[in-house]
Amino acid sequence: MRRLVAETRVHPAQLVLPMFVAEGIDEPRPISSMPGQVQHTLDSAAREVERAIAAGVGGVMLFGVPTAKDAVGSGATDPDGILNRATRFLAERFGDATVVQTDLCLDEFTDHGHCGVLAADGSVDNDATLDRYADMALAQAEAGSQILGLSGMMDGQVAHVRAALDAAGHLDTAILAYSAKYATALYGPFREAVDSSLTGDRKTYQQDPANRREGLREALLDIAEGADIVMVKPASLYLDVLADVAAASDVPVWAYQVSGEYAMVEAAAANGWIDRDRLIAESLTSIARAGADVVLTYWAIEQAELMGALR
Ligand code: PBG
Repeated sequence: MRRLVAETRVHPAQLVLPMFVAEGIDEPRPISSMPGQVQHTLDSAAREVERAIAAGVGGVMLFGVPTAKDAVGSGATDPDGILNRATRFLAERFGDATVVQTDLCLDEFTDHGHCGVLAADGSVDNDATLDRYADMALAQAEAGSQILGLSGMMDGQVAHVRAALDAAGHLDTAILAYSAKYATALYGPFREAVDSSLTGDRKTYQQDPANRREGLREALLDIAEGADIVMVKPASLYLDVLADVAAASDVPVWAYQVSGEYAMVEAAAANGWIDRDRLIAESLTSIARAGADVVLTYWAIEQAELMGALR
């Protein structure tokens, strides 16, 4: 009876797996703050994507971990940079069977770790960054990425990247806008996952956790600029923002269950303090209940396999 009257159900196709692909490693490298997650080689990434497809996961989101970084994040626009190489490698093999998506942001590629290029005074230069994002978008689209995840939180980034894609004929490359992206403590483990060199914080471009209306405003601006999908991030602590955006949006609304959300559950579970499997399922149900059509989660494969077994 309970199952029959359940208002929310999560399906494997609603899950997207974020994956890290690193340059210059021969074996997958465990990420200590994210037990069970690794920095992949191209080959191990391919095996992981195969698993995701077999489990019915909706798509994968790729992050690159380069060996060399510089002030402008040159590796992000180099067609042979690790993210573009991994995208080409995986899209060629699996582009018909899954949706290969890419993170579009400079922070993994800059030596200062910020999401954009810096002005002379050391602050992030919003408008100069937009041109770097446009170049990055073209490189990713040419490598075969089907959805570009614009996660840098620069003002005007969606319109700028859309115009560049259209001018180059990439009419079918979609934009996932990380619209309401908050400056949270929950990205901590991700910094290890991408060998981040960030000192300081992202408070000049990511949002204040205190602001709910502003999250909705950011999403509506991105939709007006041409976003195909909008996202709220992190997920669990921002379900109010997610519900607001879901109520107002006429494009799909996604949520990102981020590294810190993953790490907290795994750490408590490793200590025997929490019922891990129950909490993971409950967290995904709650994110869907609040209005997410799709959830990016590091548990995507495991959860999709479980859901398949229950059907
Ligand atoms: C930016 C980006 C970040 C995450 C996804 N894209 C880091 C940040 O904005 O500081 C975090 C994801 C996570 O914590 O799981 N490239």
